[in-house]
Amino acid sequence: MDIQQWSPDSWREHRADQQPDWPDEAAFERVLKQLSGVPPLVFAGEARSLQSSLAEVSAGRAFLLQAGDCAESFHDFSADTIRDNLRVILQMAVVLTYGSGVPVVKVGRVAGQFAKPRSAAYENVGGIEIPSFRGHMVNDDAPALEARVPDPERLLACYNQAAATLNLLRAFTKGGFADLSQVHVWNQEFVASSAEGRRYEALAAEIERALRFMKACGIDLASEQRLHQVEFWTSHEALILGYEEALTRRDSLTGDWYDCSAHLLWIGERTRGLEGAHVEFLRGVKNPIACKLGPAATAEETVALCALLDPDRTPGRLTLISRMGAGKVADALPPLVRAVKAAGHPVVWAVDPMHGNTFGSPSGRKTRHFDDVMTEIKEFFAVHRAEGTVPGGVHIELTGGDVTECLGGAEEVLEAHLDSRYTTMCDPRLNARQSLDLAYRIAELLRD
Ligand code: PEP
Ligand code: CO
Repeated sequence: MDIQQWSPDSWREHRADQQPDWPDEAAFERVLKQLSGVPPLVFAGEARSLQSSLAEVSAGRAFLLQAGDCAESFHDFSADTIRDNLRVILQMAVVLTYGSGVPVVKVGRVAGQFAKPRSAAYENVGGIEIPSFRGHMVNDDAPALEARVPDPERLLACYNQAAATLNLLRAFTKGGFADLSQVHVWNQEFVASSAEGRRYEALAAEIERALRFMKACGIDLASEQRLHQVEFWTSHEALILGYEEALTRRDSLTGDWYDCSAHLLWIGERTRGLEGAHVEFLRGVKNPIACKLGPAATAEETVALCALLDPDRTPGRLTLISRMGAGKVADALPPLVRAVKAAGHPVVWAVDPMHGNTFGSPSGRKTRHFDDVMTEIKEFFAVHRAEGTVPGGVHIELTGGDVTECLGGAEEVLEAHLDSRYTTMCDPRLNARQSLDLAYRIAELLRD
């Protein structure tokens, strides 16, 4: 695989896993042609800024918080949803920054996170085999055969929803909502009434006191832009390669190719094959990229992935997201960390404590336990402390809503509660209280 031979469509010569069976290939290609002419969602310069911030993370001078929905939804598309998810991430970032004194790089699983890899191509609904739901970029989640037929028009709908979502995120983060003087406003009512919410209120009051103090000292807070705006980046799994290719553009400043569908793209655990189309596609775009690593990943393949995805050993270019499952980290992660270090790749190591800890509840709900999530994070930190490497970030599935999808947390969600507000289309997400709780605990780990 020679980097010279890369082009936005060179992935087509490789085996592409997890691609839908479009009933009408020609209709799919027509949609891609249309998408290749639409304006980019992000700019190359923004992707480069994120990469510089991630370089700070890889050096241990910042922490990565990547969080958002498992799958964005066409049904749940509103200003309120976007705002609520953003504010829980802002709250977590404030808790982490204040608690650890380290800047937080904020990356959403948002504005493009519409496609899902599936372990099984079919599922059984009422005795009938129907194709699995693959995310709203591909088909509908309704449990019916017609709903599950892949429809390429959905790619255009995703682009439009991503554009509107990103537009609102830019307005929220640059237009006053993310102003540090608004820390109180980010605390939603159902959160404020909980123990974590009250703890957050106290922290917000301290921040406001500090701001008043600085103002009294004569510091001109109004002109300090960093107090009034935040950098918030977008990311998603680059799964449907036709969509990613169609949004890939050549940067006029550098001549390099960027996938302008998001600032950061990642490769999932199921599509990280060295010879596969996903690795081929992402190796050639200049965005910062990430790759998930499950418990079966070997040191050899991890180093081979690094060689393909980060041949120049560029700080911030590659984030490796460990998603081993609680109890497996101490065995599975150290060989990978050592091999990557020995090979000289300045990667960001992040932990996804969600996807290795999913199980079925007795009532048949897919769930995760807060304690397992926290255990995996602790184990991840312990490995990096022992290896002398940097535990650089966390990758979380959450929602700003008051859902009951993951068990546990300070205001304990019990198995009997799962049915009451279980709204995810895909994986179970932490609710805003559980997310805040998690942030406090991660801040403690960062302080140690
Ligand atoms: C995900 O992040 O939603 C996902 C499917 O993760 P993984 O590839 O790690 O299973
Ligand atoms: Co998921």
